[in-house]
Amino acid sequence: MTVSFPIRFQELEQQAKDRLDPKIFDYIQSGGGREETLRANETSFRKWRLVPRFGADVSTVSLAKKIHGETIQSPMMLAPVGMQALADTNGEKASICAAHKYGIPFIASTVSSYSLEEIAEACPNADRWFQLYYPNDEALAKSFVQRAEEAGYQAIVVTIDMATLGHREKDLTNQYSPFRLGKGMSNYTNDPIFQSYVASLSQEEMRTEMQKVFFKPGLNWLDIQELRKATSLPIYIKGILHPDDAEKAVEIGIDGIVISNHGGRQLDRSITSIDALPLIKERVQDQLTILLDSGIRSGPDIVTALALGADAVLLGRPFIYGLAIAGQLGVEKVVDNITNDLTKTLQLMGVNDVNKLDSSFIRHDS
Ligand code: FNR
Repeated sequence: MTVSFPIRFQELEQQAKDRLDPKIFDYIQSGGGREETLRANETSFRKWRLVPRFGADVSTVSLAKKIHGETIQSPMMLAPVGMQALADTNGEKASICAAHKYGIPFIASTVSSYSLEEIAEACPNADRWFQLYYPNDEALAKSFVQRAEEAGYQAIVVTIDMATLGHREKDLTNQYSPFRLGKGMSNYTNDPIFQSYVASLSQEEMRTEMQKVFFKPGLNWLDIQELRKATSLPIYIKGILHPDDAEKAVEIGIDGIVISNHGGRQLDRSITSIDALPLIKERVQDQLTILLDSGIRSGPDIVTALALGADAVLLGRPFIYGLAIAGQLGVEKVVDNITNDLTKTLQLMGVNDVNKLDSSFIRHDS
């Protein structure tokens, strides 16, 4: 039997909604505050118009990109999304195998359902990066990074937009908090440092402990500089939206940034990533790798980001909806569909190599 799999994002979202517990769906879908940023993330891409060129042979199109000397098969990665077992029992283990099939990196979240070691073992040859919520405890932060190095992760992505959890009205109305339910603890409970703190505590006390160490509200540039010294892996900072912060990242030897507003889940009324990109690019040029997420839904979205100077993008909710609908196969379908859309978009623009995109292919629609 061939299962019909949704192509349109709205249908993807609807089918995921039909399958998931309503509170879990709301947790995944919703944004911070009044969801102004969540909505703007999609609409702000439409302020740009692509300008096609005639004459190139587009019978084949190369999507491959070099990021830190490593080739990725197309300019996308799977964003760090916590607790993927909320969407499918195999969670991150399914998603990383899907990413590997398409030759794109998988970024494992600190609050993953499976530990970073289990995720690595599920698909040992997959390109994998580790996203760090810098804990409120330096020893634990270093332990996470060391474990990621030992398990073959190729980069560390430090997320900086989680000084506190966003004011998510849907979750508050539903009284739903996966953290309070003890989800996303695998990396903590499997950590020798964390274990030494909680050895004599009950399950309930352990959850409270995790919430205490979960994120360092006073995280600052000195911490990032210390982290720079602690690992030779490339470091990315995720959640940069201001050109000054991007410049500071360059100054302290950071390898890349992810321009992101966390999919509209944190600061509501935040600038969108695609609106932040041009000024950041102007400031830092090619001094570090620029990734971008929040609102990527289609081939034209990816082309817009790349034409404005991003090196690659991260997919968030689309692949999680695929995971909820059909596990690993669902993630593959989503990546496949967006890859086809990207290929056709490039062909129609007269671009046969994704590396040829630049600002001459784009105009602001004013
Ligand atoms: C996220 N995101 C996220 N980011 C991060 O750095 N660590 C994390 O654990 C999570 N967890 C998470 C859970 C869920 C359910 C969602 C939807 C998102 C943010 C994610 O990496 C990415 O920035 C956004 O998903 C991008 O926006 P779109 O494409 O989903 O709109």
